[in-house]
Amino acid sequence: MTDYDSLERQLAALLDTRDWLTNAAQTSAFLMQALDDLNWVGFYLQRQPETLILGPFQGLPACNPIPFSKGVCGAAARSRQTQRVDDVHAVPDHIACDAASRSELVVPIVVGEELWGVLDIDSPLPARFSREDQAGIERLCRVFGAASDLASAPAV
Ligand code: SME
Repeated sequence: MTDYDSLERQLAALLDTRDWLTNAAQTSAFLMQALDDLNWVGFYLQRQPETLILGPFQGLPACNPIPFSKGVCGAAARSRQTQRVDDVHAVPDHIACDAASRSELVVPIVVGEELWGVLDIDSPLPARFSREDQAGIERLCRVFGAASDLASAPAV
């Protein structure tokens, strides 16, 4: 079992600036090291209307841009609900950036009335993410959001 209480404390200590860009880079690197069996971790930001633009990440070069109408990330952005997918091959419009990915968790990050972006995490293992992982990673996203000045992320 992953100790999310400990990860929450470690991430809060790591994010010692208000700069969202630095914090997004640190958060993706931290998660890649702290969680087992991941092949991709990163942020997509809504920097154009209804469009996700690739932000700081760890892993292979990834798909960009992703419209809200497509993929697991798009579903998270549209619905503003975390998407936990046990088998990405069972999702017809899953966007395969890295052929190794088998399961995926995408957490929306909302600021005020706006979707700021999503955190996307991929695993080469089927059903890598449990409900407990979802709750823990949602908490870590709240740590990231509280530490960062997300409103200063410029649109393009
Ligand atoms: N699989 C995602 C696309 C992003 S990559 O996994 C990094 C999706 O279907 O939205």
